[in-house]
Amino acid sequence: MDDRIISGEIQEQEALEELSLRPKLLKQYIGQHKAKENLAIFIEAAKMRNEPLDHVLLYGPPGLGKTTMAQIIANEMGVQFKSTSGPAIERSGDLAAILSSLEVGDVLFIDEIHRLPRAVEEILYPAMEDFCLDIVIGTGPSARSVQLDLPPFTLIGATTRAGLLTAPLRDRFGVLSRLEFYEMVDLCAIVERTADIFEVKIDKQAALEVARRSRGTPRIANRLLKRVRDISQVTGETSISKETTQRALKMLQVDDAGLDQIDHKLLLAMIESFQGGPVGLDTIAATIGEESQTIEDVYEPFLLQQGFLQRTPRGRLVTPKAYLHFNMEVPHT
Ligand code: ADE
Repeated sequence: MDDRIISGEIQEQEALEELSLRPKLLKQYIGQHKAKENLAIFIEAAKMRNEPLDHVLLYGPPGLGKTTMAQIIANEMGVQFKSTSGPAIERSGDLAAILSSLEVGDVLFIDEIHRLPRAVEEILYPAMEDFCLDIVIGTGPSARSVQLDLPPFTLIGATTRAGLLTAPLRDRFGVLSRLEFYEMVDLCAIVERTADIFEVKIDKQAALEVARRSRGTPRIANRLLKRVRDISQVTGETSISKETTQRALKMLQVDDAGLDQIDHKLLLAMIESFQGGPVGLDTIAATIGEESQTIEDVYEPFLLQQGFLQRTPRGRLVTPKAYLHFNMEVPHT
């Protein structure tokens, strides 16, 4: 699995560590029961027919395991996994080069597929539909178009924002799979599995505490677990305790509901500067000094899911639950 075409921005060490935590098979993948159940059937059927799997779009908030799922699909199909990302492909030629390097059945994973430039995206349509590549050779009057056959392959696109995909691209995926925030039992099992890989013991109550405060997101659970492990280790514990976990999470400024400093800043700015809203996304972003897109992709989904925030046609609205979370009086409307 070292055939990543263009490496991401994660530091190499962290990337290696993350890789070792990732499950390799569908049966090792915890949670996302519906997505897993469906994919298992589609994979089995494709294998029985000796055909590549239909193109798959995985969407949902960051950190829920879209890349892991794509790697598992390649693994289960017994094919190579090649990976790139929307912003990494600047020109049609870049994508043409990647496509023409594929072998029969390969999985091509495109992360952040909603960020593919439009001209590049258009190369994908015939590639996905007819496994052929339309390329223009030369420029001006001598320019001519040639068609190259591609081996049948599976495109797996991942996006945090399925709504940003153009209709022609979205329509070319045969399988659309939405990843959801994880259930507490599943996150707890992930924390225990990771602790096992780290060869550290963790009390059940401590694992639950990490799970409870991880915003339904394995990437956050594993990150918190690493810091909790550090503190437990210097404390000299033989097994990570709930008390140490709570102390560590306090140090990391993760509150009881799993909200961090930016969530606090966002909700408090809305309460204090805009009477709880409704207020537009860009206004909130400018007020707290974060990118609108980061708020929309990273922070908002969990705040919405947990009912701290609501989206209305007139803007974002803080809910009574948010006021209560900060021990503030709920305003009368
Ligand atoms: N590590 C991170 N996410 C995981 C998942 N969904 N299942 C098992 N281990 C994981």
